Amino acid sequence: MLLIIMVISFCHTTLSEYQIMITYGVPITYSDYSNLSLSWDDCVDACSSNSSCIVVYEEDCQMFSIGQISKVERLTSGTKVAFRLYQNTTLTCPAEDTLVESPFLSYSDPYWTLPTCPENFTLFVRDEGFWCMQMATSETCLYRNESITACAENYGGVLSGIENLEEFNFLAARAIELNKEITDGYAVYFFWVNGDRKSTCMPPTVQSASCNGTNEFTFSDPTLSSDPQGYVWLSTQPDGLTHPTTPPADCLSLKYEDSTSSCGIDDCSCAASSKTGTSGYCFKGYACGLQLQLF
Ligand SMILES: *[C@@H]1O[C@H](CO)[C@@H](O)[C@H](O)[C@H]1NC(C)=O
Ligand SMILES: *[C@@H]1O[C@H](CO)[C@@H](O)[C@H](O)[C@H]1NC(C)=O
Ligand SMILES: *[C@@H]1O[C@H](CO)[C@@H](O)[C@H](O)[C@H]1NC(C)=O
Ligand SMILES: *[C@@H]1O[C@H](CO)[C@@H](O)[C@H](O)[C@H]1NC(C)=O
Ligand SMILES: *[C@@H]1O[C@H](CO)[C@@H](O)[C@H](O)[C@H]1NC(C)=O
Ligand SMILES: *[C@@H]1O[C@H](CO)[C@@H](O)[C@H](O)[C@H]1NC(C)=O
Repeated sequence: MLLIIMVISFCHTTLSEYQIMITYGVPITYSDYSNLSLSWDDCVDACSSNSSCIVVYEEDCQMFSIGQISKVERLTSGTKVAFRLYQNTTLTCPAEDTLVESPFLSYSDPYWTLPTCPENFTLFVRDEGFWCMQMATSETCLYRNESITACAENYGGVLSGIENLEEFNFLAARAIELNKEITDGYAVYFFWVNGDRKSTCMPPTVQSASCNGTNEFTFSDPTLSSDPQGYVWLSTQPDGLTHPTTPPADCLSLKYEDSTSSCGIDDCSCAASSKTGTSGYCFKGYACGLQLQLF
């Protein structure tokens, strides 16, 4: 009976951007969920209309977002689960629930596996794809080039850009925590983020509409949009054009200000790593990101 519901769901939703597969199962491995306490039908509807939902479980209507759940056991009776799969799921109708081919679902008896970020990374949904990110730290203070190498070698990632305010707030909150936690002798701790000053926006070029703020920089983060909104600048920054320095302020970092216990982005020399004393600092880490590995 349930299998029939599943097949109907598939065959009648080909024009929408997602498909719902309803079957029997139980969540096995997950980091978090929301407890919606809805009836099963309302539960499936709630998942259908929420683009971050990937699984709902019948008991208390537990809703799992993409990245929160990695393993669901298949049952042949008992509690129900529904998967919300994106449109580019390929399957031939009628299909068995174990035969679904999707970038978001893989089956190996008796478990379905779903994509999750590596340990300690948090998932962000961007227009250009699913992006896993963490504020990584280092034993030593890092030059910008060393942070790029560390992110690649330790995590297979690239220095992360900052797409929007949600991502900025995530990184800033972590930077504030780390500034309170780390006590190895520097006044403040800074963190490298993605961005390189454009060759067309270097001194003696002066500020103009095409070299003013975030658009003074290019970004190598592969899922960042062309006009990212997450670079929340410290007051009067970036100032590499209005107050040129030697070496030039060609790189970007997330800086912590002790006086306000807050953070913002600043342009700075790529060859900075640490300075001792009361106005000292240490570039203690970096925003590291990588694409969510789909199947
Ligand atoms: C879900 O919420 C309901 C109602 O608040 C509660 O009775 C139930 O124990 C919760 N279940 C879980 C798994 O948190
Ligand atoms: C979708 O679900 C997530 C996780 O439960 C929740 O935080 C978010 O507010 C929901 N979005 C909508 C549009 O209901
Ligand atoms: C389909 O899935 C692939 C991943 O397998 C993804 O790269 C691609 O962007 C998706 N296409 C659409 C139209 O969603
Ligand atoms: C994740 O973070 C914890 C706590 O900081 C750490 O002990 C663990 O080694 C980290 N895991 C990985 C894979 O980096
Ligand atoms: C730079 O942008 C700010 C607003 O963000 C604007 O007030 C200012 O006039 C711009 N400067 C130039 C030179 O375009
Ligand atoms: C990294 O940058 C620093 C400062 O510019 C430089 O001294 C060092 O040689 C560079 N290291 C590598 C491996 O490129």
